[in-house]
This record gives sequence, structure tokens and C-alpha cells, in this order.
Amino acid sequence: MANRGGFSSKLGFIMAAAGSAVGLGNIWKFPFEVGNGGGAAFVFIYLIFCFILCLPVMITEIAIGRKTQLNPVGAFSKLGFKGWRNLGKLGLISGFLILSFYNVVAGWAFGYFIEILLGNFEIGQNFSAFTSNVIKVGGYATIFMVSTAFIVSKGISGGIEKASKILMPTLILIILSLVAYSFTLEHSIEGLKFYLVPDFSKITLPVIYGALGQAFFSLSLGMGALITYGSYVGKNDNIITSAVLITLTDVGIAFIAGLMMFPLVAYMTEGGVAEYVQGGGGGAGLIFSTLPSVFEKMGPTLGVVIGSLFFLLLSFAALTSTVSLLEVPVSYVVDEHKVKRTRAVWGVAILIFIVGIPSLLGNGYSTFFTEFVTYFGAEKPTDFMTFIGHVANDTFLPLGGFLISVFAAYVWKKASLSDEISQGYPNYKGSIVEKYINFTISYLCPTILGVLFILTVLDRFFSISVVG
Ligand code: TRP
Repeated sequence: MANRGGFSSKLGFIMAAAGSAVGLGNIWKFPFEVGNGGGAAFVFIYLIFCFILCLPVMITEIAIGRKTQLNPVGAFSKLGFKGWRNLGKLGLISGFLILSFYNVVAGWAFGYFIEILLGNFEIGQNFSAFTSNVIKVGGYATIFMVSTAFIVSKGISGGIEKASKILMPTLILIILSLVAYSFTLEHSIEGLKFYLVPDFSKITLPVIYGALGQAFFSLSLGMGALITYGSYVGKNDNIITSAVLITLTDVGIAFIAGLMMFPLVAYMTEGGVAEYVQGGGGGAGLIFSTLPSVFEKMGPTLGVVIGSLFFLLLSFAALTSTVSLLEVPVSYVVDEHKVKRTRAVWGVAILIFIVGIPSLLGNGYSTFFTEFVTYFGAEKPTDFMTFIGHVANDTFLPLGGFLISVFAAYVWKKASLSDEISQGYPNYKGSIVEKYINFTISYLCPTILGVLFILTVLDRFFSISVVG
């Protein structure tokens, strides 16, 4: 394992894993999913999933990675029998699909940085014209994929770790100042109410699986990204405290992104948050349509500074995530097929970019990809990017989480999981934490994730509602 590299310190790992977790999922996707899911009720379910179901899965992924020092495909076959390689491959496919569209949205964010830097605040009203301009967005997306590949080709401590350490804290700072600013605006209270006061009658099956998919996506779980990062972690690190810190950071940033967004939306719509986010204003365009006019109201100079800085940092947050998404297939090709790192990086990056082209075209440019599928019983067609999101995020990731917990509890075995965790956490065995992890991994995660997987597939793709 001499040439695999590793994180230079415990903090380096936490920052990089948090960098993977914190990204467009927190700042772009979380607010619009909250909007689609009816507000605070969605937030409530999301928080429960993150801390009760996802945290143990995260601990398990890191433990599997550190134990085997391998990519997901190698890791599962080393600890189980050969057939479990396929679980690693499912993860590779999920990562491939997610990165293919994620890179396009990252291209939007980067494009917004440039546009606002040039003083183009009208970009908010022109969001759909922007996304259907495939030459422009394609160019930004290319810049983005090239930057990702460049960082990944530099290896673990040189590239990934360094980038995460500087950029994350700066991003948190700017969002917090936007939260403070948004609180001073008129109607902000109505936004906060939508976001924080749950109406439990809004909890329906789609809200539940939306929240589950969002929790997995935001925490970078269910496809082995954290197995891969875990494979670079030192044996003396405490996996539990690391996972808790990563989860708190990720959930914390999503939460403050919501605190920023909803008062802003309330201000812009004079209190009509629910109508706006559930009407034409919500969805993937939420932050992109709303924020530019907020920046514009700050005045020409301040607006350009804050606005462009915001989208620049959002692009960097996305970059630490795309890096982790690319690292998974790259480490697979490097470990299992003995390809040189640089070659693996560029080969995989080009392939994923090509797979992402329909997502690029499906936002207004090509009618075929914009109206890609109509689910059974659905009124409106779903575009290619959203469809891939439904398949990869909302279906494959929880399925991966289900299989990872079944694998850890019944194939690798709880005792081996405990052995691995207790390295770096000497009092782990016999503690209440161990009992809790073992219980969730053996019973809670398999049952809930398994049942929700089936319900999601039936409901979303076949319009068969077993409940409600
Ligand atoms: N978590 C990232 C975000 O919220 C996206 C991401 C990075 C991801 N790596 C992942 C999602 C692995 C799922 C699996 O933006």
C-alpha cells in the first residue's frame, strides 16, 4: 500500500470528509427540497434521518475503509466473499451518475460567479435562458471538471486536503453574514416560520423519501465515498468522534443555508413563501433565481462583492465534493486495474463528462432530454437531470446504505466492526455507544432503509402507493 498516500492528520481527514459532504447538496439542493417538501416538516424528518440512520452508516463506511485500506469494490470483496464486489460497483455507478449532473450544476454556480462579477444581476430572472445556453454552461462545466481532475490527480494530502482546509471556513463565514443580513429584512419572520414551525400533516411518503435521499446525498453516504476516504485514515483516529463532527458540520451548514434562504424568499415575495416555492419559483432554480436580486438590492459595489464571493465559495464547496465523487472510481481503477493515477483521473473524468451531456442539454436546450420521462400516472414529464437524481440519489444511495448495513452486521459481523472502531477509541467495547451502533446497523437501518427502498421504487416510478 506504499503509494496510496494518506491524510496528513486527523483534522485533515475531517476537513476533507466534511468538504465532501458540504457542497451543492447543502446550499443548492437542501433549500429547494425543503420547499418541495412543504417546509419545516421536511426539516424535521431530515434531521431524524441524519442523526439516527445515517450517522451509524457513516461510521460503518469509514471503518470498512480503514480496515481494508481499499476502494469500495476491493473492500467489500476482501471482507466478504466475491459477490459483494457488486455492492462496490453499485456505488461506482451511483457516483458516476451523481457526478455527471452535479458537475453541470457546479457549472451554473461558477457561471453565476462570473456573471455577477460582471454586474449582471438580471441573471436571476434569466435563469432558464442561462441553463439552456449550452455553449456557456458547457464551457463552465468543462472548467469545473478540469479543476476537479487536476486536484484529484495531485493525490490525497497535496490536493484534496489543502483545498478543503482554506475554503470551508470562509464559506461558513459568508453564509453566516448573509443570515444576519436576511434577518434584518421585512417579512423574514414568515420565512422562518415556513422553515422552522412544522405542520405534521404535510408528512407524506414523498416527503419521507425525499428527506431520506437528501440525507444520504448531503452526507455523501451510500456509495462508498467515505469507504474511500476512510481508507486513508490513521489507525489512531477515533472514527466515532470524526463521524459526529462531519455530520454536525454538514447538517449545520445545510441548516444555516435554510436560515439564509427562507427569510430572503419571504422578503422577495412579501411573505408568500409557500406559494412561491411550490409554484414556479421552487425547484432546482430556487437559489439561482432568488439570490441575484437580493445581491442587487445591496447596491452596485457591495452587491457585486458579496454576490460574486458567494457563488465563488459555493463553487469551491462544490469542488471539494466533486473531488470526492471522482476519487471513488479513480481509486478503484488505480487499486484494481493498476492504472497510473494521472491516467485514471483524466480517463474517468472525460467519461463522466460525456455521461453528463444529457443533463446539460435537458435544462431547456433539448426538448427530448427536458421532457425525458413521464412516470406512470404523472401529469408532467421529468427532465433528465431530475430523473438521474431520483434514480441515483433517492434510490441507489439508500439502497447502498441498506446493503452496507446488512453487510457490516451479517457478513463482516458486528464483532469485527467493533474491533475496528475500538482502535482509536479504547473504551468502545461494552459502551452504550457500541450497543447503539450495533442495534442500528443490525436492525434499524436494514428494516427502515429496506422498506423505504421498496416504497420509493413503487411510488415514484410506478405510482403504486402502498400507504397514504
Ligand atoms: N455531499 C455532497 C453535497 O452535498 C455531494 C457528494 C459528494 C456526494 N460526494 C458524494 C453525494 C458521495 C453522494 C455520495 O453536495
